[in-house]
Amino acid sequence: MGVFLPDDGSAAPESLEAYRLRGGYGGYARARRLESEALIAEIEAAGLRGRGGAGFPTGTKWRMVAAGPLPHHLVVNGAEGEPGSMKDRTLMARAPHRVLEGILIAARALQAERVQFYLNDEFVDAIAALTGAWRECEQAGLADVDLQFVPETHVYIAGEETALLSVLMQEAAQPWHKPPYPSEKGLDGEPTAVNNVETLAAVALIMERGADVFAAERPMLFSLSGDVRRPGVYEAPEGISLATLLERAGGPLAGQHIAAVLPGGYSMPPITADRLAVPLSSDHLRQLGTGLGASLIAVGSERGFGQLGHDMMAFFARETCGKCPVCVKGCQVLRDGFEPYLTRPPSTEGQEALMLTAKKYRHKGICSFLDTAARVAESLVPLMAPADRPSV
Ligand SMILES: Cc1cc2nc3c(=O)[nH]c(=O)nc-3n(C[C@H](O)[C@H](O)[C@H](O)COP(=O)(O)O)c2cc1C
Repeated sequence: MGVFLPDDGSAAPESLEAYRLRGGYGGYARARRLESEALIAEIEAAGLRGRGGAGFPTGTKWRMVAAGPLPHHLVVNGAEGEPGSMKDRTLMARAPHRVLEGILIAARALQAERVQFYLNDEFVDAIAALTGAWRECEQAGLADVDLQFVPETHVYIAGEETALLSVLMQEAAQPWHKPPYPSEKGLDGEPTAVNNVETLAAVALIMERGADVFAAERPMLFSLSGDVRRPGVYEAPEGISLATLLERAGGPLAGQHIAAVLPGGYSMPPITADRLAVPLSSDHLRQLGTGLGASLIAVGSERGFGQLGHDMMAFFARETCGKCPVCVKGCQVLRDGFEPYLTRPPSTEGQEALMLTAKKYRHKGICSFLDTAARVAESLVPLMAPADRPSV
């Protein structure tokens, strides 16, 4: 039985009535009887970490916002721009009430009267499901906050929280240098919690089932795409082994094996084929020098790492917001650095030169964008089979 998504086999959004039949809004009923402090303590006890990619502890973020001067804001991040990620859209389109219940609870914990819900305007199914579900909430007397949906033209960087807040303040989609963090000075310079859609759905689950049950079961949504037979959104406990998840997705495409898996869309270094038994948790992946982000992308043995590196760096070069010249230049240099290896492996010297280039762009720029591109490039270079050495 799915706890995030209904498993009724339908593609339609779940109605308020159906959601209530599986316990929906029971968590909010409980939350209404609790004060902000008790709600935050429960989220902390559940050990919830943000599901937008950075894995920041949600309770800690909320405590910082709650401690600041009023008014407080809640901003919902429904941008879902990470390549391969489809979990947030699926959640919004299929279980809109799960997300809305989490918003109502979060707004109460944060003492936020206004909530802005940022969305990619291409997610027409999700927008229709959410607005329809919110109307049901209004009719049922559940709509206790001023909730505004803000669909915007998609650009990748707008998913980064400070760029997102800039857009909501009618400015260009460009990040600002942190500090100040949004929890301290966010929307209109006021304390703001920016939370991912799945994080808020998990908040609803914690209040419905209790922090202990959540901490024991650690339910999560995994977007798994790339060279597997059945790409899709899988609900599984955090800590499931990557190999088991790959099996659930039907394993590699015919005639191939899995050469690597990107565990954070384009933002995290790959897990190599010899490490597929790793449990999917932030702590385990950190030990492998990578992290658990918004999506998992399986790389089949027929997809060369030179090609992959070039595709990924071309994405960064296209999506840089342009604020920092070093980022614009660095992403282009990295993309061009992989170009000679689209069809042939590098020599040892070529490999070393590309590695040095990648290192040069680490920790540069005002946000993490260029550093991420450089870190990922650095991790892919050793995987390209050198012409004068056997493959790693
Ligand atoms: C380049 C970039 C893109 C991002 N895109 C998204 C996104 O599409 N959706 C999202 O929820 N978080 C995204 N994030 C993470 C947000 O900055 C932020 O950490 C998140 O919304 C916080 O919510 P959470 O704590 O609930 O995960 C992105 C971060 C970066 C650096």
